[in-house]
Amino acid sequence: MQESDLRQLLSQLSLDEKIGQLVQIPGTYYQSGSVLTGNLSDSTYTAAQLKLAGSTLGIWGADTIRSIQKQYMQRHPHHIPMLFMLDVVHGMRTIFPAPLAQAASFHPELVCQGASIAAQEASACGIHVSFAPMADLARDARWGRVMESYGEDPYLNGIMTEAAVDGFQSTPSFVSCIKHFAAYGAPTAGRDYQNVELSEHSLREFYLPAYSKGIKAGAGMVMASFNTIEGIPATGNRWLLRDILRKEMGFEGVLISDWGAIHEMVAHGFCEDDRTAAKYAMKAGIDIDMASNAYGNHLKDLIESGEIEELLLDQAVYRVLSLKNRLGLFEQPYPVSDSHTQAHILLKKEHRQTARVVAEESFVLLKNKDSILPLRKSSKTVLTGPYVNAPDMHSSWAITGDRRDSVTVLNAAENACTEGFSFLPVPVGPVLRDLSGLHRPGKDELSQDIEALSDPDSLKAMEKEVLSAVREAENVVLFLGEHRLQSGEAASRTDIRLPEWQIEFLRSVHEQNSRIVSVIFTGRPLDLREVSELSKAVLIAWLPGTEGGPALMNLLTGKCSPSGKLPMSMPYHVGQVPIFYSQYATGRPVTGPNDDTFYRSRYLDCPNDPLYPFGYGLSYTTFQISDVQLSASTLTCDRTITAAVTVTNTGQTKGSEVIQLYIQDVTASVVRPLRELKGFTRLSLTPGESRQIHFSITEEMLRFHSPSGAFISEKGLFRLWISNSSIGGDPVEFQLL
Ligand code: GLC
Repeated sequence: MQESDLRQLLSQLSLDEKIGQLVQIPGTYYQSGSVLTGNLSDSTYTAAQLKLAGSTLGIWGADTIRSIQKQYMQRHPHHIPMLFMLDVVHGMRTIFPAPLAQAASFHPELVCQGASIAAQEASACGIHVSFAPMADLARDARWGRVMESYGEDPYLNGIMTEAAVDGFQSTPSFVSCIKHFAAYGAPTAGRDYQNVELSEHSLREFYLPAYSKGIKAGAGMVMASFNTIEGIPATGNRWLLRDILRKEMGFEGVLISDWGAIHEMVAHGFCEDDRTAAKYAMKAGIDIDMASNAYGNHLKDLIESGEIEELLLDQAVYRVLSLKNRLGLFEQPYPVSDSHTQAHILLKKEHRQTARVVAEESFVLLKNKDSILPLRKSSKTVLTGPYVNAPDMHSSWAITGDRRDSVTVLNAAENACTEGFSFLPVPVGPVLRDLSGLHRPGKDELSQDIEALSDPDSLKAMEKEVLSAVREAENVVLFLGEHRLQSGEAASRTDIRLPEWQIEFLRSVHEQNSRIVSVIFTGRPLDLREVSELSKAVLIAWLPGTEGGPALMNLLTGKCSPSGKLPMSMPYHVGQVPIFYSQYATGRPVTGPNDDTFYRSRYLDCPNDPLYPFGYGLSYTTFQISDVQLSASTLTCDRTITAAVTVTNTGQTKGSEVIQLYIQDVTASVVRPLRELKGFTRLSLTPGESRQIHFSITEEMLRFHSPSGAFISEKGLFRLWISNSSIGGDPVEFQLL
């Protein structure tokens, strides 16, 4: 539709019809049983609101959406199509590894491919908008939603957010909604929905860049976050939404609240009632009210009383109509696919293959003592642990996935056995033995699993069988981990160790056989001290998705070599959290492992360093990185310098490495982190092969948020590392003139 036609359509809408476009009603009101991703509000929706609502969420299926859309458009006075939105976070039916795992691949092109496949499958199911990617910087492993993030580093976070938006929106008539604006990933004490206490400097320097990159990539929608910023809920925060998001970042798309968040400004103690909340949200610039009905119940009165100018309403409605127009809904309001074509697109072989490659590149090998990995055909290996036959290898946000699609480790091991490996899978019961503290959707399914598998006698018998099997075996691979429902929304934890029974199980296996490989399924960094101590190898599998089993088997048997790098520091202890590599020095830094000076910034009972640092991950081969060669030792605003290294595969097998560029601004008018990631590149080398890697260093890379509010660089000394983790490499120095 032409813009003029859109404007004309807007002019023809009644006040109720305009307000309707800003109301998003949970799908359960259009299709009973559709997925709920929040608490239904007390206020129900009237028939008139259902007739005029501009969008819904939580429904999918080409035929279902076609029939709902048809009925809805027939009843709508102007036959304006509804938008169908859904959390397609890391896959629709082909479930990819969780976003934190995808970040570990340091492979944005692959993340883009995955998002594109997710959008193809979602679009085939009639979906127009995905509430993804989550661009929130996450540095606190207690927060369950680190699983949906791209980790602790602003640069990596931005690169991956941009890649995901590109991927989602490469599918025609599909739009990405980046979330949660802003800084939702920094809740006090790591507890979900908690207030966020950040200086404006930290907000702008570390937390906002990734959203900005997503917007520059053309994201069609942004979702405001639940948290407060400087005591004001993001949903009603005009400074955040109108001044920063709209004016500074130039976002012109649709801004949607999070589930019920307008109404929740009353619970925050920011508004006395829904009417006030609707007023504050509209003034702040929220276009669509997701599932709170504050707009549906109060906007008309606010307009008629003059408390809200109708111009604000018209601007919001126009943005929603423009989004529908961008998606082509006025010309093609119905899904082009039907259940038949949809079935051909979902779980396509190529989609599964890509999901497997993403999983393979997301795994992070943290330890490999005595090169116990890859497993050899000659060695008799017991495969056990709760994830050995668990189909649930996807996250709590894989709401459209079906665990029956998963190829389990057990299934994949059977294939490996046909290739000559002598694996003995021995199941050992469910991931969790008790559900205390797991009050959340999906608990019923979980309790059925537990009941079915956990009568004490059968558990004892299983463990007895495992222990006798491991006694005879050469190696043991333990597939351990937190449950998928222990991460994600509303899933903060203060104890980030494995479930207690799994630690005891690991200990009892270790008494029988010390040649243990521990494979850890998790949505967050965990305290893996004892796992690391008792295992010869530790491999982080994250939540690898539908193809997790084959991907793991390919890696364990050496068909592919691990190449993932930690996107978040693996803490030594939860007491260190939030912990991240780009720390400040402080005025009393610990200067080295032998610095026993008192009055230093350190703990009495724990090291400062994580167990494993950001950017770290092993391969089955080894790489040598030469000293850094700088093309010049001075940099100016109009001249770049090049930093180069030669990387050599000094091992016996082919492998991939992620070469990382870090820079430190040694002295500045604002204290700068000890190191900051400014670039990375993946390369694959055969044994003995060398390759030169170059990074261009520009003045723009050195800019930071200054007290004046401008992003500036300052002359002076800089240090630069090129290494394969955030702790490696010898620095070279250069001056910015
Ligand atoms: C949830 C989440 C958000 C999600 C939305 C819709 O509360 O915070 O990430 O997209 O509701 O499901």
